[in-house]
This record gives sequence, C-alpha cells and structure tokens, in this order.
Amino acid sequence: MRVLVIGSGAREHAIVRALAADPTVDAVLAAPGNPGIDLVAQCFPDCGPVTDPAAMSQLAEQVGADLVVVGPEAPLVAGVADAIRARGIACFGPSAAAAALEGSKAFAKEVMAAAGVPTALAHICTSEDEVVQALQSTGAPFVVKDDGLAAGKGVVVTDDHAEALAHGLACLAKDDGRVVIEEFLDGPEISLFCISDGTEVRALAPAQDFKRVGDQDTGPNTGGMGAYSPLPWAPDDLVPEVLERIAQPTIDEMRRRGTPFAGVLYVGLALTSRGLRVVEFNARFGDPETQVVLARLRTPLAQLLDAAAHGRLAEMPELSWHELAAVTVVLACEGYPQAPVTGAAIAGLEECGALEDVQVLHAGTVDSPEGVVASGGRVLSVVGTGPDLSTARERAYAGVAVIDLAGGQHRTDIAARAAEGTVLT
Ligand code: AMP
Ligand code: GLY
Repeated sequence: MRVLVIGSGAREHAIVRALAADPTVDAVLAAPGNPGIDLVAQCFPDCGPVTDPAAMSQLAEQVGADLVVVGPEAPLVAGVADAIRARGIACFGPSAAAAALEGSKAFAKEVMAAAGVPTALAHICTSEDEVVQALQSTGAPFVVKDDGLAAGKGVVVTDDHAEALAHGLACLAKDDGRVVIEEFLDGPEISLFCISDGTEVRALAPAQDFKRVGDQDTGPNTGGMGAYSPLPWAPDDLVPEVLERIAQPTIDEMRRRGTPFAGVLYVGLALTSRGLRVVEFNARFGDPETQVVLARLRTPLAQLLDAAAHGRLAEMPELSWHELAAVTVVLACEGYPQAPVTGAAIAGLEECGALEDVQVLHAGTVDSPEGVVASGGRVLSVVGTGPDLSTARERAYAGVAVIDLAGGQHRTDIAARAAEGTVLT
C-alpha cells in the first residue's frame, strides 16, 4: 500500500520510519515532511497548510494514497480526515466531530461524565464571576485550562491566585472563550495510546513524557522534552484497567452519540493516591512519546493503522513488542519555549544516526545552502534503545553528545529516576 503521512515533526518521522519497515508498504509519502523524513519518504514541502481539508484530500488523491495517517491535532480538528474519507480514501484519524475530544476540554469533560470515566472535578466558566467562584471552590494549586486548542500553552498550574485569575481572564477574552478550572491531580503522569476503529480498542505500551523545559521539572511547560517506555514502576494491571474503565467506555459513548472515534485516543493519566484519573484526552499520537513507543512495537504499524481505518481492528492479532526499552531526549533550540531562536546550524547528524541503537529524528529542521539548520522549537529527538532503561538512556545521551547545535538545550534527567528504580516523576 501507499501511505501518506501528514505532519512535519519527530512524531511523524517516527511514524514514517515504522511504516516504511512494514513489508505491506510500497511507498511512504509525507506532507510537508522535513529533511529527516525526506531520507525515508517522498516529501511534499509545498503541500499548502496541513489544516486545509481540500488541499490535503486533493494531495491524497493525486499521490494515489491507499491510507492517510494524520499526525497533528490541528488538521483533525479542522476536518482533514473527513475530507479524505469523503474522497473514498482510508484515513487513520478521527473526524472533526470526534477530534473535539481534544479540541474542546469542556466537551471531553462532558463525554467523560456521560461515560463514567474518572477525571478531575471541573468547573466550566464563561464569565469572570464564574472564574472567581471556581478558583475559590477548588483552592490552590489552581489548574486553569483554555477550553480550545492552544498548542501546549493553554494550561496553567499555579499556587498564585493572581496568575490563575489572569490566565482565566485571558482565555475568556478569546472569541467564544471558555475556561475549565479543575481540581489538582497529584501523582506521576502516564501517556497511553489507545488505537480504535470506533468500536474495538487496542492499547499500545505506556510511556512517560517530561513536559517542563528544565531538569527536575522546572521552568515552563513545553510540547515535551523527552520520554521513555516501558514504565517499570507502573501497576501490572494499568493497561487493562485503562481499557476497561476509560478507553472502552469513551469509545462506546462516542459511538452512541453518532460520532464514532476512529484513530488514536491518547489518554493522559495521573496515577493519584486515589487511583487513576484522566488529565486529558488527545485525538492523536503524543510527541515525544510516539518516538519511544514505536521503537518498541513489533507489530507492523501500517497493518495496524489500516485495520483501524477500515473498521477491522477485531481481526488484528494481539500486538507484539520487542523486549527492549527506549528513551528519547529532545534537543530544542535556544530560547525555547518562550523566545525560540531559528537558523542555528546543526552538525553531527550522520555521526549520531550511525551509532548503534540510536535514531535521530527530525522535528524543527530545514534545509539551507549551508546544510540542515534549526527552524525553531523542538529541533531533534534522539532515541536510544537497549535491553533496559539505563542502557537505552546512555545510548540516547551518547547520541545527543555528538550533535552540535549552537544554543541548543536538552534535559539531562530524562528517565533517570525510572532507570535507577526510584521512579515516579
Ligand atoms: P493538558 O493540556 O490538559 O494535558 O495539560 C498539560 C499539563 O498540565 C499536564 O500534562 C499536566 O502536567 C498539567 N495538568 C493538567 N491538568 C492537571 C490537573 N488537573 N492537575 C495537575 N496537573 C495538571
Ligand atoms: N507529549 C504531549 C503531547 O503530545 O501532547
């Protein structure tokens, strides 16, 4: 089959690599892709905005795609999967109506309540009075979330009442602004990707992401600075419990509403002292967790996603996994996330990719006459694999060490505590 991947990050680079390794795949194409993806797939850098359903579906038709895999949330919420399916092309990714599970936090809360899914108690506010009252009722630490998509910048968690109120008012000031204020959830976070065809659900392996920019979880939130899988500290029944209490009831509720969710339901969890709680739903694979989860997946990815896109997930055999651990470290540009600096040269890419059990995945890179340079944000994701987390971690950091990116920054503590066996971040 010919598979078109929409997106340009390290998540899409990992997806493209996994698809290319599936023997049923004849060609992988990417729109727009990036210089790293270009080494494995045919890229369409001039494809137009990925959020344009007409442009994306037209491209899918032009290139003769048998399957389209949509990476980021914005195209899904904009209806790109609907437009592709309307042309009779299979698409792995939910409809706009189903992607509202990520596109509106208030909607996600409503579905969770209807499905009996455990999550933080929430107040959905549309006025300043309601915000003030909600902050008073939850107390500190305050958790204040923009209802809509905000590219990782919509959530403020703070003990400072003035900061919480200011963020709440800023969210309200947007067109149709709504703000969700909720109970603080303690405990380590887990990401679990649940693949669904609208009826059946299969979970991938759990992973943990590091959201703050600085070591020891300091500094502002980012898209994610690193991840690892497996989670040696997670309870044995984690996956069956999430499937039974969270993913399946949510998929069933979405189907009952006439808006079946087919794609990946990213369940963001907190393992609190009172049990598992959903922190958020996303309608797509997580970045950088995908980089470690796919490094461990033995089941051919295209066959899995194709089965989900065709409503045939029940026919897939159980997923199988490589007996190895994976760690990824994100290299971000100078100034990320507040004031990213673009244009820095990157050296050592080939040397890094040639290391054993190391992959270097591109995110914010672009070709220039001087070679590959940083285009901002998260620039690369270096993945190390090995028999255990400490080996995988050493390999990932050995890869990072050979990359030269002026002003670049990365965390030095990705998977450190899990590798030592002292867990929980
Ligand atoms: P979200 O966009 O909802 O995933 O939130 C981004 C990050 O904010 C999460 O990964 C958590 O680290 C944090 N967060 C969100 N909701 C809560 C909550 N109720 N309690 C504590 N931290 C939260
Ligand atoms: N790693 C967090 C996310 O993809 O939303």
